[in-house]
Amino acid sequence: MISDTTKARFAREVAKYPKEQAQSAVMACLAIVQQEQGHVSPESEREIADYLGMPPIAVHEVTSFYNMYNQRPVGKFKLNVCTNLPCQLRDGAKALHHLEQKLGIAMGETTADGLFTLQQSECLGACADSPVMLVNDRTMCSFMSNEKLDQLIDALKSAEGQ
Ligand code: FES
Repeated sequence: MISDTTKARFAREVAKYPKEQAQSAVMACLAIVQQEQGHVSPESEREIADYLGMPPIAVHEVTSFYNMYNQRPVGKFKLNVCTNLPCQLRDGAKALHHLEQKLGIAMGETTADGLFTLQQSECLGACADSPVMLVNDRTMCSFMSNEKLDQLIDALKSAEGQ
């Protein structure tokens, strides 16, 4: 259920566009919902569609096109490792497999303690820095050797007191 406070945030985004182009705010509305709820559920997609006057499938097309939108709940730390071709040529897949082993989960899964979700990502625009990864859609990590991956996971765990 989208609250009145959230709808007020939607309204601020919609106001940035001409009146007949409210749908242009769809990405911003999806980002607001994800920021508040951690992911974008089908119910939230329908509510955004109603709010913006567009078909629910058109909202879902946006959610499912960009992998920064979470379509299901994720762990506290979402780790996206780039496995596109240039990174594959420079240990991108090796980094992903190392994290799978260290965390004891397969790509796409979340650890039982809810701390980490591991995903592949499309090109992050830093191919020369491979292996590269993004933490929580914000923090870019470059040249991620197995040693640096271990340090990152250990630091995130200790920040959470684990
Ligand atoms: Fe990985 Fe470009 S292919 S950053």
